[in-house]
Order: sequence, then structure tokens, then C-alpha cells
Amino acid sequence: METIIWTEALSVGVERIDREHQTLVVMLNDLGQVIGSGQGQQSVAQVVCRMRQYAQEHFATEEEAMTATRYSGRTSHMAEHDAFIEKVLEVEDALSQGEPVAAGDIWKYLRLWLTEHIQGPDKVLGEHLCACGKG
Ligand SMILES: [Fe+2]
Ligand SMILES: [Fe+2]
Repeated sequence: METIIWTEALSVGVERIDREHQTLVVMLNDLGQVIGSGQGQQSVAQVVCRMRQYAQEHFATEEEAMTATRYSGRTSHMAEHDAFIEKVLEVEDALSQGEPVAAGDIWKYLRLWLTEHIQGPDKVLGEHLCACGKG
């Protein structure tokens, strides 16, 4: 699995959110290592579960900021978070039931979702929070 490097291109201009995104990138790289080292589905499941739990904490950070600033894009942004968690829970279920799951495809999905979400709706949210003086 390739390594993802966090660069300013992924910054949304809000320090706390950037720090949490950096942690998610670290977790994604950890997952890549576990998959690459062939440690098996149980280990993959554990790392995916940890990453999903941290993503939920992170989404709560963003959603609280959206509520506090009466952000108009809150509903659609939250729908993206919810769809992501739902999808990851499905993957966790499949892994825990020992169903054959292509770990590399999971990793690619997580990477694509994370980078597109950060550079899309999270950046828009970051601009809004900065404009509200919450950057
Ligand atoms: Fe978000
Ligand atoms: Fe985010």
C-alpha cells in the first residue's frame, strides 16, 4: 500500500480539524501496513474498527462546529458522514464474519473517500468557520 503524506493541500484552515485529519491519515497508513504485511482479516478488522471510531469522534467535532455556527450545509455534510460510517460498518461486519473481503479495495475506498471529503465539503466548512471567526 502506498503511503499518504499530509500536505497543505489537505488543510482546511482550521487547526483542530486539520489535526484530526492528520490522525486519520496516520491511521490510514497504519491500515495499509497491516494489509501489506498480510496479518490477516482479524487484524485488518481491528484497525478498521479503530479508524471508524476515531472518524465518528472527528465527525462530531465538525458537526458541533456546524451547529454552533448555524451552517447551512449541515444536513448534506452530515449525510456524507453517515453514509461513510454505514459503509465502513458493513465492511466490519463482513470482516468479522470471515467473509472474503479484498482488503486492498477497502484501503482504496477509505483513501479516496477521505481525500475527496477533506478537499470538498470539509474545505467549504473550513472557509465558513474562518469567516465566522472560528478558524
Ligand atoms: Fe466532514
Ligand atoms: Fe473531516
